[in-house]
Amino acid sequence: MKIALIGYGKMGKEIEKIALERNQEVILKFDVNNKDEFTIDNLKKVDVAIEFTQPESAYQNYMKCFEANIPIVSGTTGWLDHLSDVKFQCEQNGQTFFYASNFSIGVNLFFKLNKQLANLMNTIEGYDVSISETHHTEKKDAPSGTAITIAEDLIANFNKKQSWVKENAVNNTELAIRSFREGKVPGIHTVKYESDVDYIEISHSAKSRKGFALGAVLAAEFTIINKGFLTMNDLLNF
Ligand SMILES: NC(=O)c1ccc[n+]([C@@H]2O[C@H](COP(=O)([O-])OP(=O)(O)OC[C@H]3O[C@@H](n4cnc5c(N)ncnc54)[C@H](O)[C@@H]3O)[C@@H](O)[C@H]2O)c1
Repeated sequence: MKIALIGYGKMGKEIEKIALERNQEVILKFDVNNKDEFTIDNLKKVDVAIEFTQPESAYQNYMKCFEANIPIVSGTTGWLDHLSDVKFQCEQNGQTFFYASNFSIGVNLFFKLNKQLANLMNTIEGYDVSISETHHTEKKDAPSGTAITIAEDLIANFNKKQSWVKENAVNNTELAIRSFREGKVPGIHTVKYESDVDYIEISHSAKSRKGFALGAVLAAEFTIINKGFLTMNDLLNF
């Protein structure tokens, strides 16, 4: 499989290592320093593009890959205002796009556990719930895309919460997501249910970026045989 990396920062470099370990070829690498090489003709040379850039550039990068007619795997967060356009390109124009707010297999198990716990807690009185996330200081968006996914899944399964808010909830139908930025933390997400007498907490901590990179390469391999708008639920067969 021939891969183009769009974005060659912390994630792009980690993905390259895993792709090479899995005997895949990385033949193109694009970042802010070689934008002139990021052309449709060049993109046509690869089987798949893996995109990890920044919220402001992600959507334009996707559009370019669609023009080149190649599948894209993207982990960039903070671009979801354009989600319906991207889905439209897959559904109406036959494009293939794999998105995960978090490519770690462990986090995707955590997503499932979060939904099951929310469902269980839904029938129990006396608990309030909140989410916290901690990441390295270079992370641009807050709350993290992963925390937003956790919040949306929780709200869908826990009737007392109707919307999520940044930092502090004003009323108890709001689900607070608190964001912390510290050192080089790759990512910690915690869901905490608290009553007067106890609390129940589930948490996922990434030890490094390796888990995200492996998930992204597995997703790229998946797009060679599966088409359309794809997510980790398709890859993990949840
Ligand atoms: N989904 C996941 O599992 C997951 C995991 C980690 C990080 N992320 C997200 O991935 C993104 C990248 O993270 P990172 O830690 O690698 O960031 P980074 O800042 O280390 O790297 C970003 C790279 O993108 C490049 N870039 C910026 N604009 C570009 C453009 N217009 N065209 C081409 N390249 C461009 C930069 O040159 C840089 O190489 C962020 O949005 C982050 O939140 C997602």
